[in-house]
Amino acid sequence: MGNRPVKKGWITAKTADINDLYERSVQCPESEVDLIFQAWGELRDRKPESIREDFCGTSAVAREWVLRNDTNKILGIDLNEEVLAWAQNKIDSELTEEQRSRITLVKQDVMAVDSPSVDCILAMNFSYYGFKKRDILKKYFTSVHGDLVEDGMFLLDAYGGSDSFLEMAEERDMDGFTYVWDQNHVNPITGDIVNYIHFEFPNGSKITKAFTYEWRFWTLPEIQDVLLESGFSKVVVYWEGTNGEGEGDGVWKIDRRGEACAGWVAYIAAMK
Ligand SMILES: C[S@@+](CC[C@H](N)C(=O)[O-])C[C@H]1O[C@@H](n2cnc3c(N)ncnc32)[C@H](O)[C@@H]1O
Repeated sequence: MGNRPVKKGWITAKTADINDLYERSVQCPESEVDLIFQAWGELRDRKPESIREDFCGTSAVAREWVLRNDTNKILGIDLNEEVLAWAQNKIDSELTEEQRSRITLVKQDVMAVDSPSVDCILAMNFSYYGFKKRDILKKYFTSVHGDLVEDGMFLLDAYGGSDSFLEMAEERDMDGFTYVWDQNHVNPITGDIVNYIHFEFPNGSKITKAFTYEWRFWTLPEIQDVLLESGFSKVVVYWEGTNGEGEGDGVWKIDRRGEACAGWVAYIAAMK
């Protein structure tokens, strides 16, 4: 079937920039940076300045971090040269020279990273689910622990809920395109999962498998156990509150109970 005619201003599979669509669909750097300050306010009596973002991708958080004040510094680590080039271009075009000077992007495996000690390390959007074996996950968490200052903090996210064990796809209408989260493969025996992000456009064109994630589905209790075994002294979970319709309200609180709902995202704060 041919694509429908393209109207002025429409994005199509040919004209789309998948990193831009990714940022618009799945990232909210403002609330992530708010959460960093909230956690430090609640768990440590100072503000963090130097952070390292593992799996930094498009640098959305890095850009937001240096915009917040004149002293924040960030080191972004990612393996993918293409996404780092995209990120650098975005940094160069959107930030002042002074702001740019406080961001360093490095192409490296987070498992073998050579970084100075920092106040806080981030691992967001479940990227560490790529470490499929417990001993490898522990090796990563241990190296993060070693790269933090004495009162440092590791912040990471996790997802779960009954839907996350199902092979299913979910569509979300965005401004000018449709975002599709496709939980394509779930192996209940090994915990292996394969998730895709697809994009669809108003003229009928599509980008299938714009992003592929071959992960191990780690549960919150497992992640907390491995963090403690990796040397962290205390681990807490931030759980999101709900509004009248039962949807997330963007208010995060340290919680020990959570809610057994169909889908949730949580943040974990691990203290050195
Ligand atoms: C799910 S994206 C996350 C991007 C961003 N952190 C976010 O919150 O949306 C995963 C990123 O991790 C990178 N990545 C995967 N394994 C890595 C590794 N071992 N070391 C460094 N980067 C890695 C990929 O290149 C990709 O850009």
